[in-house]
Amino acid sequence: MFVDHRPHLHLCQDTNMEYLGAHLAFKSRWHKTDEELCRHSMSFVLHKAIRNDFFESYLYLLEKYPLVKLFALTSEVIDGEMQFYARARNFYMDLPATEEGMMGDFAELSNTDIESSREFLKKFVGGPGKAGTDFALDCGSGIGRVSKHVLLHFFNNIELVDMTEQFLEEAQNYLEEEADRVETLYCYSLQDFTPHARKYDVIWMQWVSGHLTDKDLLVFLLRCKNALKENGVIILKDNVAREGCRLDPIDSSIIRDIHIFRSIIEKSGMSIIAEERQQGFPDLCVPIWMIAIQ
Ligand SMILES: C[S@@+](CC[C@H](N)C(=O)[O-])C[C@H]1O[C@@H](n2cnc3c(N)ncnc32)[C@H](O)[C@@H]1O
Repeated sequence: MFVDHRPHLHLCQDTNMEYLGAHLAFKSRWHKTDEELCRHSMSFVLHKAIRNDFFESYLYLLEKYPLVKLFALTSEVIDGEMQFYARARNFYMDLPATEEGMMGDFAELSNTDIESSREFLKKFVGGPGKAGTDFALDCGSGIGRVSKHVLLHFFNNIELVDMTEQFLEEAQNYLEEEADRVETLYCYSLQDFTPHARKYDVIWMQWVSGHLTDKDLLVFLLRCKNALKENGVIILKDNVAREGCRLDPIDSSIIRDIHIFRSIIEKSGMSIIAEERQQGFPDLCVPIWMIAIQ
């Protein structure tokens, strides 16, 4: 039980609104009890008192520790971590191992995406004080679309990691003769994967961070941090919600707003050295951002 040592609970109007979503989500689970207990009984009075105390303490924690807030919100949105991961696994198992499969409904935008990625990456590699050009890791690589059109243009060697076996099998054909420059294909979920320490100049994560819970994303970023060489950079490219955090039930991914990304990155002890919104995608698409982290 949370012991109340605080002077008093003070929530300003804005803070209160910010946490109301999480608060109500929990509160709804108590309704049944309200209906079943006699409203004048001692248990009902006790139940209400405990409930009020619990929610006040919970709100206090959310306010005091932003990490608690992030994890609580994610877990509300995904409705069970195991299911969240299992649904994504099933979704990708049935997806064709093609560029169309990797791009969803937006295959014709692959070139626009690639050109912007190359321009963005150029800023951080190959030069004094910048990342080297020896080794890159493509996380959530799929068949290797980013590896083929972006990373292999900059780096001598690359590695791919993805949880879907048939994508990695296809990568060996899709990358054609450049497949020789792939040192290893790792068939792992990112939440279970530890990249080799101090091996990579760049770690690229595109359209995969939304498949990790806040906690797993944070912990994975920490492992990536340890896997970077001097001046190494992590590039995270993903859909970004206009506000808050919501679930895409089709592929079982979360779309986070930029503040949530920033908060997770900050907690990893790294900094954002540049962020840029992807241009050239239709307005109906969720905004896409590229974030360079060091
Ligand atoms: C939308 S595709 C993007 C592929 C590639 N990054 C690209 O931009 O073409 C998402 C990829 O992430 C992989 N994926 C999803 N969840 C994952 C997880 N938890 N761990 C590792 N890979 C994951 C899927 O298998 C799929 O290949």
